[in-house]
Amino acid sequence: MAPTEDSIIATSSPPHFVLVPLAAPGHMIPMADLALLIAERGARASLVTTPVNAARLRGVVERARHAKLPLEIVALPFPPPAAAGDEDDVVLPPGFENIDQIKDNSHFLPLFQAIHRLAGPLEAYLRAQPQARRPSCIVADWCNSWTAAVATRVGVPRLFFHGPSCFYSLCDINVATAAEHGLVPEDESEAYAVPGMPVRVEVTKATGPGFLNSPGFEAFQEEAMEAMRTADGAVVNTFLGLEEQFVACYETALGKPVWALGPFCLVNNSRQDVASRGHDESSGADLQSAVTAWLDAMEPGSVVYASFGSLARKLPGQLFEVGHGLEDSGKPFLWVVKESEVASPEAQAWLDALETRTAGRGLVVRGWAPQLAILAHGAVGGFVTHCGWNSVIESMAHGVPVVTWPHFADQFLNEKLVVDVLGAGVSVGAAVAPVKLFDDEAVLVLRGDVARAVSELMGDGEAAEERRKKAREFGERAHRAVEKGGSSYENLTRLIQIFGENGRSPQGNLKL
Ligand SMILES: *[C@@H]1O[C@H](CO)[C@@H](O)[C@H](O)[C@H]1NC(C)=O
Ligand SMILES: *[C@@H]1O[C@H](CO)[C@@H](O)[C@H](O)[C@H]1NC(C)=O
Repeated sequence: MAPTEDSIIATSSPPHFVLVPLAAPGHMIPMADLALLIAERGARASLVTTPVNAARLRGVVERARHAKLPLEIVALPFPPPAAAGDEDDVVLPPGFENIDQIKDNSHFLPLFQAIHRLAGPLEAYLRAQPQARRPSCIVADWCNSWTAAVATRVGVPRLFFHGPSCFYSLCDINVATAAEHGLVPEDESEAYAVPGMPVRVEVTKATGPGFLNSPGFEAFQEEAMEAMRTADGAVVNTFLGLEEQFVACYETALGKPVWALGPFCLVNNSRQDVASRGHDESSGADLQSAVTAWLDAMEPGSVVYASFGSLARKLPGQLFEVGHGLEDSGKPFLWVVKESEVASPEAQAWLDALETRTAGRGLVVRGWAPQLAILAHGAVGGFVTHCGWNSVIESMAHGVPVVTWPHFADQFLNEKLVVDVLGAGVSVGAAVAPVKLFDDEAVLVLRGDVARAVSELMGDGEAAEERRKKAREFGERAHRAVEKGGSSYENLTRLIQIFGENGRSPQGNLKL
């Protein structure tokens, strides 16, 4: 039988991946990299977000246009507040579309509620696609569980993207199962071993797995777990050379394919792209030149880089301990502080004095810093990190060992992976998760802790040398994974093939 016009179009056009990131920097940056990875391999990638977030992805759009990649940003209007008397008690300030804009803990819930109301607009977008660009697969952030019902209604297969390590995600599933059987102690501080792990992992309720686990988020968390169970598979930003046994166990625990396609940060980055990554201001390139010039003057491997991700904000009490710790370590340092952390005259004066005392061996960057360019620079020999997974994998991809200072969510488990399993980190000894992201009065880590951990990491003892060697090896493996023939490269080839072949049937009945 002669092929119909439809099937000719279907087979001659590439598969179309519709990516739906969560509106938070640590979630959008890897998804934007993933979109580029997919598009560079000839498949179509659409990143669905809202206008404020779309503006931040300008660098990605320009890059795609320049390289003629089939990538586009879809900006759905940000949903208006629900009708009065409805679910929302607190109304979001206008223009708040990203978690990093939140300065008040009470705004998290209304932001999540608003994001959930994108279901209707997303469905309309998917249905409006012409035959040649019919969605083949939705890849949605684990937290965007509202996409599950949309995918079912439209008949498109759905993968979830979960940002953390597979080590974390495996713990998360195993703890959830243990909790169902009443095996998790009630006491917040009682340690227990996570069941079903191929290595011994001890956690407490405070340091154990946690996404969407704040009071008020119960329904969201339950929905996210359910959306995970009903998905067609998972996409993760890791690679087999880093945590193969956990990828394999996670795949078994989930009972569906886990596509390890990382490190996403190694996507064909030109200098300009690295400068603007996760940053919407044109000053990115200038700042990068200044930082690079400073690093160029330092000895190879001598500088410790300190940065704590895009969300957590330190009050002066804790901030000053970080600064004094870096100073007391005696090592050259490059430290990123948030504008909001040094906004008060007291903090400004303190920082000015620190910069004077450490002139020549300390550089403080206020606001945003070109993290990938810094990690790729030969002068950088260590990274003091909050253990967000993007930071950890970026550091490993560049062969840089870490000082670990986890704050919340998956970070305590990422610390365990990198320190205890991978042997490429030193813990600062932060035992307890802060209760609040912002304005937490607690001083959890003292200057002596920072100075000790930095000295250990940057020192020249046998243990320090061993950590550096491990990190270097992970860096080499990371690059091999994303090259032609590497595990991440070939997994992506297969992913694109599968959705090219099967992803388009009206029922979305995927055969993997
Ligand atoms: C990497 O980017 C450059 C410049 O944009 C482009 O010429 C090249 O083809 C890209 N390589 C791959 C493998 O996509
Ligand atoms: C990814 O590649 C590895 C081998 O490199 C393979 O064992 C694994 O099954 C692949 N994953 C998927 C989901 O196809």
